[in-house]
Amino acid sequence: MNSLSKLSLFILMAAHSISVVAQSNVNVSLELNAEAPQISKHIYGHFAEHLGRCIYGGFYVGEDSEIPNLDGVRKDIIAALREMKIPNLRWPGGCFADTYHWKDGIGDKASRPTIVNQWWGGVTEDNSFGTHDFLNLCEALDTEPYISGNIGSGTVREFADWIQYVNHDGVSPMADLRRENGREKPWDVRFWGLGNEAWGCGGHMTASYYANLYRQYATYMTDWSNSSDLYRVASGASDGNYNWTEVLMKNIPKNLIEAVALHSYSVIDWSNKGSATDFSDTQYFQTMQRAYKMEEYISKHAAIMDQYDPENTIDLIVDEWGGWYDVEPGTNPGFLYQQNTMRDAMIAGMTLNIFNNHAERVKMANLAQTVNVLQAVILTEGEKLILTPTYHVLKMYAVHQDAQLIPVNFETPLFEKMGESLPALSISASKDQNNQIHISLVNIDDTETHEVSIDVAQLGVNEFEGSILVSKALQDYNDFDNPEVITPKPLKNIKVKKGIATVELPPFSVVVLEGK
Ligand code: AHR
Repeated sequence: MNSLSKLSLFILMAAHSISVVAQSNVNVSLELNAEAPQISKHIYGHFAEHLGRCIYGGFYVGEDSEIPNLDGVRKDIIAALREMKIPNLRWPGGCFADTYHWKDGIGDKASRPTIVNQWWGGVTEDNSFGTHDFLNLCEALDTEPYISGNIGSGTVREFADWIQYVNHDGVSPMADLRRENGREKPWDVRFWGLGNEAWGCGGHMTASYYANLYRQYATYMTDWSNSSDLYRVASGASDGNYNWTEVLMKNIPKNLIEAVALHSYSVIDWSNKGSATDFSDTQYFQTMQRAYKMEEYISKHAAIMDQYDPENTIDLIVDEWGGWYDVEPGTNPGFLYQQNTMRDAMIAGMTLNIFNNHAERVKMANLAQTVNVLQAVILTEGEKLILTPTYHVLKMYAVHQDAQLIPVNFETPLFEKMGESLPALSISASKDQNNQIHISLVNIDDTETHEVSIDVAQLGVNEFEGSILVSKALQDYNDFDNPEVITPKPLKNIKVKKGIATVELPPFSVVVLEGK
């Protein structure tokens, strides 16, 4: 780490009451604060694009499949995602969203036109998974739908009609069409994205052109349901493109916008991403450096938003994030199918702690992507299904959903490689509606165990239970023959003495504690 990066790391950490020291016994204090924000459950959201085997051959196997399904969607996937408490699901893209024409995906499945997926593998889709299929799936999952509308190649009318189709309860052309297609009641969809990556696959627009287009589309977005207000999301920046956020914040009136998005993937090098499973210690460190940039990106985008929106009425949502590697050997390069190791568990645990600790401004996030694509929580092969280490992290962290943040203070030891360093530990904590305390701790260090002593005296908690996700090697993963190599185990030896809870965090481990 050069001196400039060291300085920025110090500043960032100071902003979060964390500082860096080289030690392996770490004192943690929790600051119960009635004013602390709620951790929106939507931070734990997911993303399902028409890409590779996420929808077709993943979620959706068709009504005639021998795999047990509900209207064509695998029942085992529905059950696993419900267990994980999936709070929202973004669809149909990604880049695909700005090529998608929703009317091609309604009505009799046999007569639907085809669409060639121009971004992902050039495959021809038969449009058999459309609006009804997605929204019924969300009902089965008990999750909120988040629809990304087409701004890149669609029209204002097409967008407005989609909202009327899914949300209008009265008599109108689109509500009548919905009824003709077998759905009487509207679905009341609240979350709407206005395009995706408008600076890239969403139209290669400039920020100011997009801001104008956004204003036009947002003007005609009516909440037909009269029961829930629309939540309009502006297509956001990638990584550190702060100018994009600034132009949007400056040019979009507050009455037209609820959130600005941000996309950030943990990629070592876009031209040489490396294998998902066969990686060196150095590549692991580089991935974690990349993942840790999320802290900086959120802080800096949020600082710009603070300038234009000091009342904090507009949310920052990270609607695409996760690790991105080379596809598995022998698979279609356009399908983005990758395995998922303990490295991914580290990305997930650390990133979710970052989101929790920024709960004031970050109100939603969507891991890319749910099934068979990028940092998936579920992988399928024929009738087989496995849960990845990332799945287990999301499930362990579900205890934070809609709980009140408890700010944490600690001095993290360093995780050092190649003369550079990262904070070895990340921690977040919350208190839920039943006053239960949860603390999630991640040690990304690949060799050192760190002991953590948490001052719990003021919490009135004398006992903790916990679970731990850890494995023998960072490169370990679950596969179809060995699906349970990595699963959470109960954490033993949580000592509480004189108001101090002491826990050992082995190398590359994720721990979640629950106060009893
Ligand atoms: O998640 C894969 C792709 O990554 C999405 O389609 C796009 O929005 C992003 O570039």
